[in-house]
Amino acid sequence: MSLLLKHTVRSCLALALAAVAFTAGAQDYPSHPITMVMPYAPGGPGDVVTRVIAGAMQKTLGQTIVVDNTAGASGTIGSAKVARSKADGYTLLMIHVSHATSLAMFKNLPYHPVDDFEPIGSATTGPMLILSRNEFPAKDLNEFVTYLKANPSKVSLAHAGVGSASHLCGLMLMSTLKVKLNEIPYKGTGPALNDLMGGQVDILCDQTSGTVPAVKGGKIKAYAAAGRARLPSLPEVPAISEAGVEGFDINISFGLYAPKGTPKPVLDQLSAALQKAVADPDVRKRLEGMGISAVSADRARPEALRAHLKNEVDTLGGLLIKAGVQAN
Ligand code: MLT
Repeated sequence: MSLLLKHTVRSCLALALAAVAFTAGAQDYPSHPITMVMPYAPGGPGDVVTRVIAGAMQKTLGQTIVVDNTAGASGTIGSAKVARSKADGYTLLMIHVSHATSLAMFKNLPYHPVDDFEPIGSATTGPMLILSRNEFPAKDLNEFVTYLKANPSKVSLAHAGVGSASHLCGLMLMSTLKVKLNEIPYKGTGPALNDLMGGQVDILCDQTSGTVPAVKGGKIKAYAAAGRARLPSLPEVPAISEAGVEGFDINISFGLYAPKGTPKPVLDQLSAALQKAVADPDVRKRLEGMGISAVSADRARPEALRAHLKNEVDTLGGLLIKAGVQAN
């Protein structure tokens, strides 16, 4: 047998064996614990959502899901970790709007948020609140707006990095009021909320999971819901539209992704487990208790998340660049 023929046979054999291993791997998935990366600091809204969803999905998958908070650089450090991990379904990414904005915010992103990931499905959606430390010198929304317009250079705004949900909300507040505040970036709004409760920073725009209990506990002040409607969990807090502010309506959705090339049978299994999780009455009740909604099962599908991500990339990236915002 000629050398060339020997070589061809050997490489075909190697390929066939790899394909068999791959399919076998996909067939008995999951055979060991799964890592779900939440690229923001522990204790924040992303962490809370990820732990609730992971807890429900692991029951269906019959395998432990470990939450990994590899945080920093507006979620891009943890996202890069998932993008370069093996496409076998054992490393996943739970993330929100910052996945879309990262493309416009970071010139040297070591991955492409659309091309390097497989969407599995959306998980949750929720509103945001405009908050301050307790001693902030404004008793209601009107005084808050007046104070910000009169003393912008004296006010510090905490957020979780450029392109994050808290940053986008802060940007909308600054552009609506035409003020420039002193921005203080954190690795997540978990630590930012701690500093707000401690009085180290003045204001924060954040999701509801950690903040509603802090408002109800009298640890921070809420001036407005960042949208057109009041929150059922805080009916006494006005919507920002009640102060005559139009076009300020922000809702944050979390979605689940796998590395590009993850086998379809594995993606289907993960999406089915996610759909079951968001339909689970206990999961829905727990999230509602934090002012968040589990999405409908329809939205917990790959095609729905793909469309959602495309829409966010197309709309937000341009807005941020026009606003002159860029990380590096
Ligand atoms: C977090 O989980 O810390 C937040 O979702 C970060 C953000 O504001 O985007």
